[in-house]
Amino acid sequence: MADIVDTRTDAEAALARACEALGRGVPVAIPTETVYGLAADATNPLAITRIYEMKGRPRFNPLICHMADLAMAEAHAVFDPLSRAIAEAFWPGPLTLVLPIRPASAIHPLARAGLDTIGIRVPKGFASRLLSAFGRPLAAPSANTSGRISPTTARHVAEDFGAKLELVLDAGPAVVGLESTILKVEGETIRLLRPGGLDAAEVERVTGRPVLRNEKAGAAIEAPGMLASHYAPDAPVRLDARDVAPGEVLIRFGGTALPGETDAVLVLDLSPAGDLAEAAANLFGYMKQADATGARSIAFAPIPARGLGEAINDRLQRAAAPRG
Ligand code: TXA
Ligand code: MG
Repeated sequence: MADIVDTRTDAEAALARACEALGRGVPVAIPTETVYGLAADATNPLAITRIYEMKGRPRFNPLICHMADLAMAEAHAVFDPLSRAIAEAFWPGPLTLVLPIRPASAIHPLARAGLDTIGIRVPKGFASRLLSAFGRPLAAPSANTSGRISPTTARHVAEDFGAKLELVLDAGPAVVGLESTILKVEGETIRLLRPGGLDAAEVERVTGRPVLRNEKAGAAIEAPGMLASHYAPDAPVRLDARDVAPGEVLIRFGGTALPGETDAVLVLDLSPAGDLAEAAANLFGYMKQADATGARSIAFAPIPARGLGEAINDRLQRAAAPRG
């Protein structure tokens, strides 16, 4: 199993060990406010290849490159004024911007799957200290085997990768719990490539412009990693449940009881108070808890579509999609 180093009690040791491993081209699992990431030096092709190998990604999808701050990001990508305004408003935070790569950037083409654009994010918390200490961008997909649920704790990461992984930095449970929102500015248009931990309505409020959704959800050609079946627990997932069958786990919302729930294997409430941010933070951990019961299926009560509910429902649709 990987060594788990607690960044809250051993910050200096965590930084030193992570920088040493990253410098050797070895991927390290790191905490971010969204989910845990499997990070590697974005300028080192061997290190990036190791990420794909460890995750068992079926093909080379572009990875998000993490930066210490906007200045570091500007050295690698070309910011139009609207993208810069969005970055200034929401970084550090759960937002990825897809931008044209600068020809002089040392980020390796493997990290962006050969595209002439790059997905960039400035994360919050310990990841930001690590990025400053390491001094180079870190390519980091979610730290899970391909097709599995993204990890929100260091333990999830260590259990998923076993002996394949050297080091996990532990900063406690991820605060947001959903991957970043991915946006791409095209001229005066802001396109939503992936709903995520930043409510798109916040971007509309700050910019005074609409954020355009792809007409066909899940068909996002622009975000090639958006496979339909993703974020999948082992048990089949049933959405918009109005009742519960014996032998099922129920994951509900807002303290609303469902008929049949006394016969459920387990009942979890994403947020008894009806808070969508709390629901987002609990979602992936609850899916894992539900799976651990060995239940024959996981029933989800309806979750409101407003605010972060958009991203939560996106992940649920993927979890319920036919397995490929
Ligand atoms: O919250 C997050 O974003 C987490 C944490 C670790 O930062 N990272 C994450 O990375 O979710 P990953 O690799 O699972 O998601 C990367 C996705 C790709 O599958 C693709 O959809 C999109 O980001 N992406 C990356 N670069 C892109 C580009 N140049 N053009 C379009 N989409 C891109
Ligand atoms: Mg992922």
